[in-house]
Amino acid sequence: MTGQLIIAVDGPAAAGKGTLARRLAAELGLPYLDTGLLYRAVGRLVLDAGGDPSDPVAAEEAARALVPADLARADLRGPEADRAASQVAALPGVRAALLKFQRGVALARGAVLDGRDIGTVIFPQAHVKLFVTASVEERARRRWREVQSGGLAADLAAVTEELRRRDALDLARAAAPLRPAADAVTIDTTALDADAAYAVALETVRRRLGAP
Ligand code: DC
Repeated sequence: MTGQLIIAVDGPAAAGKGTLARRLAAELGLPYLDTGLLYRAVGRLVLDAGGDPSDPVAAEEAARALVPADLARADLRGPEADRAASQVAALPGVRAALLKFQRGVALARGAVLDGRDIGTVIFPQAHVKLFVTASVEERARRRWREVQSGGLAADLAAVTEELRRRDALDLARAAAPLRPAADAVTIDTTALDADAAYAVALETVRRRLGAP
């Protein structure tokens, strides 16, 4: 692929993709796009209209109407938004509308995108593809500590169960299921802290781009 630089960072929920992708984008001077926010925003738009996020007609209409400002909403996190996002993410019509949105945004200036299907579907020709993963137990511990540090009570067993449920949905979905692209470099962060994971990612990107 010629033209704007595209870096795909895929992987399961809570693997540390966001932190890593944001740092890479800052280092490389590229815009960063958290593509999970698109599915979250579409879910919200459907709920706002009093609709059902698993209704393909309502969800596809919301996906086509999505504008960048919708991604800045303050209510895109939390259990209700999680559920609505995974419902709309299973709908092929929603994924097709958001594919156009993602390509439009990223091709303007290049981008680091994080998600589930960036290297497999959205940008199969991305210059660099990373697949960032960690054991479900470690991802759950990180998410649990994050919730606690936000001053909220959380039960580690419940957080682990919820992540297992989201993994199963991401993996089993017929439309763009979560899987590494054949030419992705997998970074398992189970035994790495954020700085160490970032160092491996940056080194991988530099190597792939042929930088000294
Ligand atoms: O990464 P996240 O938790 O914000 O993702 C929210 C939902 O959207 C989750 O159900 C997975 C889905 N998703 C997707 O299907 N494809 C993407 N590129 C990003 C997220």
